Amino acid sequence: MRILAIESSCDESAAAYLEIKDGRVLRLEQLVASQAIHSKFGGVVPEIAAREHAATMPHILDELAKSVVGKPDGGELGRQVDVLAATSGPGLVTSLKVGLDSARTLSVAWSKDLVAVNHIAGHIAANWLPGAPLELGSVSDSEVFPALALVVSGGHTELLLMSSLTEFRLLGATRDDAAGEAFDKTAKLMGLGYPGGPALSKRAESGDPAAYDFPRPLMNDTGDEFSFSGLKTAVRYFLSDRREQLTDEKFLADVSASVQRAITETLVTKAVRAAVRHQVKTVVLAGGVAANRELRESLGSRLKAKLPDARYAVPPLTYCTDNAAMIAMAAYFSAVSGRRDDVTSIDADSGWELGR
Ligand code: KG4
Ligand code: ZN
Repeated sequence: MRILAIESSCDESAAAYLEIKDGRVLRLEQLVASQAIHSKFGGVVPEIAAREHAATMPHILDELAKSVVGKPDGGELGRQVDVLAATSGPGLVTSLKVGLDSARTLSVAWSKDLVAVNHIAGHIAANWLPGAPLELGSVSDSEVFPALALVVSGGHTELLLMSSLTEFRLLGATRDDAAGEAFDKTAKLMGLGYPGGPALSKRAESGDPAAYDFPRPLMNDTGDEFSFSGLKTAVRYFLSDRREQLTDEKFLADVSASVQRAITETLVTKAVRAAVRHQVKTVVLAGGVAANRELRESLGSRLKAKLPDARYAVPPLTYCTDNAAMIAMAAYFSAVSGRRDDVTSIDADSGWELGR
């Protein structure tokens, strides 16, 4: 199966070509363009994001044609593709529409099947891409499932129980801010810019995670829900008395390390508790915040201590943040299980909740 996938749910415009034969990846080509323009607004501006996607997408598809067929020939690329795929939700509705409508148009023009992909399923599927721990063809499904997925991104924080590659049950999500938002908003309060996650985690490297005791909301609650808005408020009050220290590198590093510890400890405690409760065979970490080194390492080590036989999967760094390779892999799983979408009626669904 040869898939051309498009991702445009937030502020990354991306396309990928994935060729799979006999359950093995033969070829993967992918391109991602991040929209730098939002950093000057301190967050993603939906209207601007959609316009940027529309302006960028033809160039990305042109470049993809160059890498797949050796020249910028959309017609030739079309002849090589069996399935068009695009993220249809969750995400920013106008941004989603740009990518999905591009795929719909190509699907009609090239007379090829269309598969709409859930963005969260895409993040999870990144763990099956080449070089990832569950690389397609390397582990049998019976060794992987049931699995627990912890999805942590800028818009989502969720625990999902997976009984197969396409069956998800939502155990719990965040009641307010996502883990990525907690990183971004606290980083903004410290003047570290946007997106704040990578900047805050870089600062945290030289800081003391025990320097300050920030709240770990719902950490000791046995349910599977999260809540991170209280952490942002706590950091705001904490900093309001200490504005003059924001120029002190040691102070910034200690606050960053302490905030990061509060977020990661909460995520790890709840994920491992759910993994033990459901006696899963695998724990899968996914989403942009999965790029966070402390989270990657501490989830692995705590899981080893509490559920030693469980497999632990976390995607290579390049596949943690938004990309289209992960969407192509999720489309492959859906297509193999029989999913096809109606090109005339499929629409973006900004609130599509996986596993509900
Ligand atoms: O999955 P993603 O690219 O987009 C969404 O689907 O939301 O995730 C972006 C989020 C942002 O909140 C960003 O700050 C966070 O992932 N992030 C990180 C790191 N790298 C990206 N958070 C903490 N540490 C990192 N190293
Ligand atoms: Zn994402």
